Amino acid sequence: MTNERRVLVHPDKQSLGASVAARFITKIIDVLEEQNYASIVVSGGSVSTLVLAAINASAARDSVDWSKVSFWWADERWVEANDADRNDRQAGIDLLDHIGVLPENIHRFGAVGDYATVEEAAAAYSAELLENAQGDDDAPRFDITLLGVGPDGHIASLFPDKPQVLTAAPTVLTVSDSPKPPPVRLTLSLPVINNSQRVWTILAGAEKASSLGLALAGAGADQVPVAGVKGRKRTVFFVDSDAAAEVPENLIASTY
Ligand code: 6PG
Repeated sequence: MTNERRVLVHPDKQSLGASVAARFITKIIDVLEEQNYASIVVSGGSVSTLVLAAINASAARDSVDWSKVSFWWADERWVEANDADRNDRQAGIDLLDHIGVLPENIHRFGAVGDYATVEEAAAAYSAELLENAQGDDDAPRFDITLLGVGPDGHIASLFPDKPQVLTAAPTVLTVSDSPKPPPVRLTLSLPVINNSQRVWTILAGAEKASSLGLALAGAGADQVPVAGVKGRKRTVFFVDSDAAAEVPENLIASTY
């Protein structure tokens, strides 16, 4: 099995959401059959809603034994629990509140009110990752990590030209000056994200085209963070045709 980057282009945003949802459900069923549990990482933003809501709407949703699936977050906004800005709240609305996932398998970041400082919340999440790691790893080997990408190429809360994106340690980082509001955030470092068997990056819209094009053309992760994603087994970019405008022709898979 090769671990080349693959780009799968879809005609529009709706078909993109439906296609990722269908592949996700199929893959989770395969993973559960193989190892009897699965761990997933989700993020925030419009694309997370697109995909999670499409999974929720799928007729195949209930063919997954969700009690064996655990959920983690790639990043979180440092606001109170239940604040409309929380990525975990949005994921609840989109999918998690509607399926039989067990509360102990929902690994949320701490919120304002749970911890005195964002640094303490980061340390607690690092410890939780470590507790759930296998062997010598510092974090679980996630089965699928779903990431959105900002127009500036950011993933999770790893923004261009900020020190967090270059952090080589597998850890949880804090951000105090996020260019995308709210300013204070928690994020997995790139090595934790890349400890996933599969990283699926999802992009829709013309405003994402140049970041994707640069990332695939060899830009550095410091300038275009999405350039740094690499799953252990697979790295797939699911895109709509607008976001695909600057993808080198030879990277586009012929079918999806
Ligand atoms: C967040 C995210 C962030 C998001 C991108 C893309 O906290 O907002 O986790 O990394 O995935 O900003 O967001 P869109 O899909 O809305 O463009």
